[in-house]
Amino acid sequence: MALNFITAEEAAELINHGDNIGLSGFTPAGTAKAVTFALAKRAEAEHAKGNPFQVSIFTGASTGDSCDGVLAKAKAIRYRAPYTTNKDFRNAVNGGEIAYNDIHLSQMAQELRYGFFGDVNMAIIEACEVTEDGKIYLTAAGGISPTICRLADKIVVELNSAQSKSSMGLHDVYEPLDPPYRREIPIYKPSDRIGKPYVEVDPKKIVGVVKTDWPDEARGFASPDPETDLIGQYISDFLVNEMKKGIIPSTFLPIQSGVGNTANAILGALGNSPAIPAFNVYTEVLQDAVVDLIRNERVLFGSCCSLTLTNDSLNGIYKDMDFFKDKLVIRPSEISNNPEVIRRLGVISINTAIEGDIYGNVNSTHIMGSKMMNGIGGSGDFTRPAYISIFTTPSTAKGGKISSIVPFVAHLDHTEHDVNIFVTEQGVADLRGKGPKERAYEIIEKCAHPDYKQILRDYLKYTDGKSHTPVWFNGAFALHQTFMETGDMRNIDWSKYFK
Ligand code: COA
Repeated sequence: MALNFITAEEAAELINHGDNIGLSGFTPAGTAKAVTFALAKRAEAEHAKGNPFQVSIFTGASTGDSCDGVLAKAKAIRYRAPYTTNKDFRNAVNGGEIAYNDIHLSQMAQELRYGFFGDVNMAIIEACEVTEDGKIYLTAAGGISPTICRLADKIVVELNSAQSKSSMGLHDVYEPLDPPYRREIPIYKPSDRIGKPYVEVDPKKIVGVVKTDWPDEARGFASPDPETDLIGQYISDFLVNEMKKGIIPSTFLPIQSGVGNTANAILGALGNSPAIPAFNVYTEVLQDAVVDLIRNERVLFGSCCSLTLTNDSLNGIYKDMDFFKDKLVIRPSEISNNPEVIRRLGVISINTAIEGDIYGNVNSTHIMGSKMMNGIGGSGDFTRPAYISIFTTPSTAKGGKISSIVPFVAHLDHTEHDVNIFVTEQGVADLRGKGPKERAYEIIEKCAHPDYKQILRDYLKYTDGKSHTPVWFNGAFALHQTFMETGDMRNIDWSKYFK
């Protein structure tokens, strides 16, 4: 069946108010760009005529400005799931304009299949190649593309010449069956390939192909600073020690590392540690540091869901595919983040927290308990099934006015049952094998900033001190309250909370 080439504007005309739209990509990597940009313009035009025009969007993870950014500004999004990092989207969510459903990334595809979100009216898929018999070759990310392509009534392909066709062998496309027919996902080591290098669809569903030349909108990285360097060094030393103790095998275990500057710096530190053998990465987002480590043979293999790289680094891989083709694989997020596989492989997870509390609970998503930052992303997918789960954060935020260690987290994403190790630039708290009161002292003494150590010790003093998990209800959020009222948690006056 011949492909029907159309413009992005014509594709946007195929979308109706109220539609559910599925998008390729994961982070700005591999996401739809041209049609979503045109869709925002369409929404603005409809709104100017007084017509309602909003859609629901389902993605692998965050997207770029040409998707979340322009659509949020055009007030074209009614509902969205899952993760996002876009500032305009965040403002709209915190302004109450968008229903944002922050679910674990590994669950997105299966919840679509289970029918939790209704029908998928259109899938918009970025590709580096599409064939007349319905083979779609994805670009820099796996995301939820296989599932939305299968579920969608219509598919529009963005054929993006800014993405090299040399990525054609990188993907391993695999979709599990649903219960009661689900079998194990047969990945026994990070480099195992279990699927096809393309998404196969009924060609009749491809209603249009839009040619574009639009690079990924990935952000660059800040150079590591003394704080991120220190955190990276602590984690590297901790893991070396675990290996010496025989807790981590001498062959080492696969590493997952979150997204952002700290994660990039941590991987750099692990890669540069002579005491750590060359290792595998089984992660969702592969960042620049890992590409360098693969080149230096410090990382043997990288399994991921997206190449969230600066464009220089991405094009470097595309140019060097002969070298990279047996060292990298891109999987759908349902597989890259699958708890079954993560537990089997013994992945060591390293993610960033907004704040943690003295009991070991972690908040990854909300500022002061009510404002959404980004979302849980894959941190929950990896943390619970991890071999060792690690969270990092600087001990303070906003120039010391906020302590990242608090009596009780103002929002809970990862519970005390899931968090093994907490790391700040002050040190490493090992929560394993400790009861709640022991954990509280460990976290305060090892991780809290010196300005907040006594404040947190005082909080503990005002609990009954005897219960299994001693909590002082009136004081539990007093640091947050003090920040909201005075702009600095260090102004805490515990006596205000005695009642
Ligand atoms: N209270 C209030 N604000 C805080 C804070 C706290 N305890 N800790 C950090 N912040 C603020 C920072 O000041 C900064 O504000 P700004 O944007 O106004 O400068 C902002 O939050 C981001 O902090 P930063 O230190 O730059 O964090 P980051 O870029 O390392 O990101 C997370 C940290 C937690 C937001 C990010 O890692 C995330 O979204 N995690 C959840 C998803 C995830 O873990 N994905 C990976 C799974 S594979």
